[in-house]
Amino acid sequence: MLVNAKEIIQNAYKNKKVVFHININNLEWTKQILLAANYKNVPIILGVSPSAAKYFGGYNVCYSLVKSLIKDLKIKIPVCLHLDHGSYFDCLEAIKAKFSSIMFDGSKLPFEKNLELSKKLSEICKKKNLSIECEIGRIGGAEDGVISEISYTNLNEAKAFKKIGIDMLAVGIGNIHGEYPSDWKGLNFSLLKELNETLNMPFVLHGGSGISDTDLKKCISLGVSKININTELQIANARALESFIKTNDIMENKNYNPRRLYKLPNEAIYNKVIEILDKFKE
Ligand code: G3H
Ligand code: ZN
Repeated sequence: MLVNAKEIIQNAYKNKKVVFHININNLEWTKQILLAANYKNVPIILGVSPSAAKYFGGYNVCYSLVKSLIKDLKIKIPVCLHLDHGSYFDCLEAIKAKFSSIMFDGSKLPFEKNLELSKKLSEICKKKNLSIECEIGRIGGAEDGVISEISYTNLNEAKAFKKIGIDMLAVGIGNIHGEYPSDWKGLNFSLLKELNETLNMPFVLHGGSGISDTDLKKCISLGVSKININTELQIANARALESFIKTNDIMENKNYNPRRLYKLPNEAIYNKVIEILDKFKE
């Protein structure tokens, strides 16, 4: 069932649990994530970045693909189709294509502009019963080819965002997209604690790949109800493909058949998702 993220995130928040947001990149990814989440019987958020949507062929393709996979694979869990790091224009496109949830990333805009556009989108989402995530402070690292410096979420700015009625807030607490560098300073838990005590609303932690389980657990106890993961799966997929190609002759046994070629990467994605979903169950 395709749902918005409102109920699943509120439930997670109330019970100090987490819903995983896993980015999808193609059909195989989407299928394996749905199968793994369905097997584990937990809700899942499928994140689609604007560049991933383009790679799929467009927002309508993503929507139809996810809808059809839910139907044909008889997926029973709540599935949220969520635009990840969208501009204002991307958000409108994803809404038009019937995504059930959006993230407006105005973190590179001046605060007032970010707030103004977030408010507009929040009103549209309310009317259409969609969930909305916004971001203040900046997540470091590269996302969709854009490199950002870390900037921490400001408490007063966060308060203003709460007032516009968004469902979840992506916080910048030292988290980084992609791999964490060896000189990474770690997460700022005292800031997260302060934000949590002041705002009492679900937070989103981007850049979930490579953060220790202990730190992720601490984040969940301090109001993080959605953790975004992409890089971990990309690495698992690439490693499996690399190992297949290194150990097999592509011209033997019709190994060039994509269904053979992607067998191990598909299994790697499935297993990685199971491993992620098994975290923090109790
Ligand atoms: O929005 C997506 C993410 O924040 C994923 O970050 O690739 O570092 O896991 P990651
Ligand atoms: Zn992100």
